Amino acid sequence: MQVGLKATGGTLFAIGAATVALLAPSAHAGAGGFSPGSARSGDPFFPREGNGGYDVQHYGVENSYSPGKRRLRGATTIDAVATQGLSRFYLDLRKHMRVSAISVDGQPASFVQRDGKLAITPAAGIPDGDAFTAVVSYDGHPRPVVDPDGSSEGWFTTDDGAFVASEPLGTTSWMPCNDRPDDKASFDFDITVPKQLRVASNGTLTGVTRTESKATFHWSQPEPMATYLATTTIGRFRFLRSSQDGIDSLVALDPGFGRRTPAPFKRTGEILGVYQKAFGPYPFGSTGAILDPGPVGFALETQTRPIYASPPSTYIHAHELAHQWFGDAVSVSRWPDIWLNEGFATWASWLWEQHLGKRSLHATFRKAYEAPLSKRFWGPPPRRLGGPKNLFDSSVYVRGAMTLEALREKIGNPAFYGLLRSWVSDHLYGNGSTAEFIALAETTSGRQLDKFFRIWLKRTGKPKRW
Ligand code: TRP
Ligand code: ZN
Repeated sequence: MQVGLKATGGTLFAIGAATVALLAPSAHAGAGGFSPGSARSGDPFFPREGNGGYDVQHYGVENSYSPGKRRLRGATTIDAVATQGLSRFYLDLRKHMRVSAISVDGQPASFVQRDGKLAITPAAGIPDGDAFTAVVSYDGHPRPVVDPDGSSEGWFTTDDGAFVASEPLGTTSWMPCNDRPDDKASFDFDITVPKQLRVASNGTLTGVTRTESKATFHWSQPEPMATYLATTTIGRFRFLRSSQDGIDSLVALDPGFGRRTPAPFKRTGEILGVYQKAFGPYPFGSTGAILDPGPVGFALETQTRPIYASPPSTYIHAHELAHQWFGDAVSVSRWPDIWLNEGFATWASWLWEQHLGKRSLHATFRKAYEAPLSKRFWGPPPRRLGGPKNLFDSSVYVRGAMTLEALREKIGNPAFYGLLRSWVSDHLYGNGSTAEFIALAETTSGRQLDKFFRIWLKRTGKPKRW
């Protein structure tokens, strides 16, 4: 789904077909012209991830997992709209998930699976603007994706199932998709597991269907979601339900962490209350958390229901809840804009600590600014990371958050909070870029801020005057 003005299709970034079209419009112009969609997003950090020529509206994921065999089988139904006449189009899926069949609008399609891509040739071309439905069937032994910095994400096998956390590229380890953050879509998950296990996913648990030996968990995520925020985590969970600041909450708790809701999750409502006041209404229909001992040392802001491999501090939980606005409801258009996620979520957890009376925003800023070990906060500059290996550098978090706090102190609370609320409401369920944020900051405050942002986001070294 595409909200706002970004081009999902190959038009902006694609080389190949779209470039040819620009040079020789007659080559594919007009109704009835069909050419291959792009096999690239052109993202500056992950140019080969994601595809063009269509816009996904909905994913219907039907997976079945056998923990004993570590085998995942399933079919994903992809509803999309063509943004050009398509003779062929591409999806992302890692090769350990072997595709057995693909249909497009009910007709068998021919396909080639290579280099993390499915090249799909439907029986007939798809006209520009037409809706179409692709069904991809697969079978394999999922394992994580390894990134340029050596870190891994995606599908991790656990003692009792799987821990699934996929930022930035890991979703392709377990389902076919258009893996770029600017092609958001609604999701339905129907995940079948042995009957003693449970599945924790995004959105709302709408039902459980049981047979003698199996259970199928039906989850629905109606608001658009970026692919990297999807999860189908499997384990021996207890489901703890409550209402948090008026929002339905479901915490999936691995019993190894006890029978009762861990303390930070009991404060979800209080945290959401602070954020709803500051950023506007909570953007989704449900909240909660997933706590499952995975072989990873991190937390992720999986949409509606952040995932943790170990019990978080309330500060970390506040960070992941802030991402529901900054990252999830409003997602980056391209990965080099990651400070719009991590800097904002970090600043928001400073706001939470200020609410607790622990430390004011200004004091937190000063502490970071003056910390003797602060060198690592200053480089690389948040919007000049130099490459995907620095995507989650601590400067993205801390210098990113300091950028926002310096902005608040420069333009004042009314303009600053007005800016954050407009940022969320203008880009709700869509995407945003740093350039768009700066432009909105200037119109909201009536100030010229390009130099300010250049110093904080792009200039090497510690900012001295801004
Ligand atoms: N976005 C996460 C956070 O700051 C960090 C993160 C990046 C992550 N990549 C990940 C977590 C992969 C889990 C898996 O909260
Ligand atoms: Zn984060």
